[in-house]
Amino acid sequence: MWRSRISRRRWRCEDYAYTDLIHNFSHRFGGAFRRLGIHKVDRVCHCMLTQWAAPMRRLTSIVAVNKDGVIGCRNSLPWRVKSDLAFFKATTSGNIVLMGRKTYDSLGRCLPNRYNIVLSRQFNLFEDHPNCVLRDGVVEGIAEAEIAPPCFDEVFVIGGATMYTQFHDIVDRYLITVVDKVVDNGDAFFDLKLFNEPSKWDVSRVVSPSQGEHDEASYEIFELIPTDLDVRNQCRQEAVNSVRSKRIGTNGRYRRSRYPASDPKSSPAFSWV
Ligand SMILES: NC(=O)c1ccc[n+]([C@@H]2O[C@H](COP(=O)([O-])OP(=O)(O)OC[C@H]3O[C@@H](n4cnc5c(N)ncnc54)[C@H](OP(=O)(O)O)[C@@H]3O)[C@@H](O)[C@H]2O)c1
Repeated sequence: MWRSRISRRRWRCEDYAYTDLIHNFSHRFGGAFRRLGIHKVDRVCHCMLTQWAAPMRRLTSIVAVNKDGVIGCRNSLPWRVKSDLAFFKATTSGNIVLMGRKTYDSLGRCLPNRYNIVLSRQFNLFEDHPNCVLRDGVVEGIAEAEIAPPCFDEVFVIGGATMYTQFHDIVDRYLITVVDKVVDNGDAFFDLKLFNEPSKWDVSRVVSPSQGEHDEASYEIFELIPTDLDVRNQCRQEAVNSVRSKRIGTNGRYRRSRYPASDPKSSPAFSWV
């Protein structure tokens, strides 16, 4: 009961000051309350402590790309591969999805059964509503993902090109569908050179969902896990903490801040073998 009361207040609070203050409060006084044996307070503290002490959610970029790096054409997918879309749906359902504004436009709506975070610099694009919120930077996006309701599990970056690039240095894994189709008029690209150094990635094939007659092309799905997971996790944690302390420091007023985008030139290449 306490959990649901806290949750309701927590998720509805627009400026996050409440959650951040309670966060500090629970860390400072949780032990004292437990010693006092105040049952209800203890339950609240326990609930808060377990929620906030939890490790960060796993962050995965999920993308379908051809061998030339094409991912999009005129703001839509350049192929019709139904079984891969089914894989995408099954993988992301019940989780948090992070997307750029153009991908949101191409979908035309928030994805059902998922907590949607849309990144845009247009403050008034839409009002936040349950399970679909607008944030204006990478750090704000991952901070939002960390305070999303606990019923949602992992975080998936679902595109488009600008999002994959900016999140490249901090994701915990990639799920990459390599589609066997040549696209001449592609206009959105995923930079495959980002995987140029195989020693930095553990690559495995994912058992593909059975491909059907409605698939325009064959494909393979790969899972890539970076070897520096700890560094990435710490990096995200620091970014989220910086947003939290900024919100407390500004009395909960929302301010812009940005995570430095990755530099593709300094990143390595990966060959699809
Ligand atoms: N094959 C796949 O798996 C896949 C998946 C997803 C999408 N796609 C394709 O990719 C294409 C779209 O990709 P795209 O790169 O053109 O667009 P996008 O990444 O979907 O969206 C770009 C927009 O996101 C917002 N944005 C990005 N970074 C931001 C930041 N740090 N802070 C605030 N806002 C930020 C900006 O919105 P504002 O302009 O509003 O400020 C920016 O114009 C489409 O063709 C789509 O079909 C393919």
